[in-house]
Amino acid sequence: MRNKIVAGNWKMNLTFQEAEELLSEIADKLEKIELRDTEVVVCPPFPYLEMALDIAGESVFSVGSQNLSEYEKGAYTGEVSAQMLASMDVDYCILGHSERRKYFGETDEIIARKVDQAIRHEFIPIVCVGELLSEREAGKHFDVVREQLEKGLFFLSEDEFSSVVIAYEPVWAIGTGVNATPAQAQEMHAYIRQLIESRYGKDVADETPILYGGSCNASNAAEIFAQPDVDGGLIGGASLKAEEFVKIVEAAVNKK
Ligand code: 13P
Repeated sequence: MRNKIVAGNWKMNLTFQEAEELLSEIADKLEKIELRDTEVVVCPPFPYLEMALDIAGESVFSVGSQNLSEYEKGAYTGEVSAQMLASMDVDYCILGHSERRKYFGETDEIIARKVDQAIRHEFIPIVCVGELLSEREAGKHFDVVREQLEKGLFFLSEDEFSSVVIAYEPVWAIGTGVNATPAQAQEMHAYIRQLIESRYGKDVADETPILYGGSCNASNAAEIFAQPDVDGGLIGGASLKAEEFVKIVEAAVNKK
């Protein structure tokens, strides 16, 4: 059976000192719970990765980046390559987040190139898909998510795809306090799993973790994670508070 994953996406928040404190608190709290088949991932900003890796080394959580370059290496000022991150032992990488699509012009084609970099350097990419409110209101949400997957991800071979994690993050739910209902999340997750099955077969579809993201917090995580096709969450705001984040982890651990 596939693993459950709770990943914290810190986005562009916290000072170095705040980040260190938060990670130490998370590590302390995780020590007290048995994670069983749940993985915990923390994705801080780039400059904090090494410090996060140091704390993770004494703890049970893994570390991911929030982005990586579509280019391999060379004269790309300001970029951070997959090779650099791999050489630091970063395991995961969030790709295709709607904020990168919106503010940094990332298209499905760019995301595909980043996914390719991530796979070549043996990362576990957490690839985000999700529709805008206007697209849901127009009844296009399934088509939007299908296109994002087909263009951004389904070029991978079956073998390559087997390390991928998908996060369904409806854009209207991100940072708004309005989460998708458990039924809405389940409906889309089941659809995504069915698309994976048509492309890669049932075994791969059954093993692919599909996370929910968008105003997921300690109060609603258990009922969202209880859905059969929801395998955990990609958490924004609520991942910046140790107690709240670890409660969300517990909700995943307790999922039947
Ligand atoms: P919030 O949990 O703050 O809504 O953010 C979700 C998200 O974008 C995680 O990647």
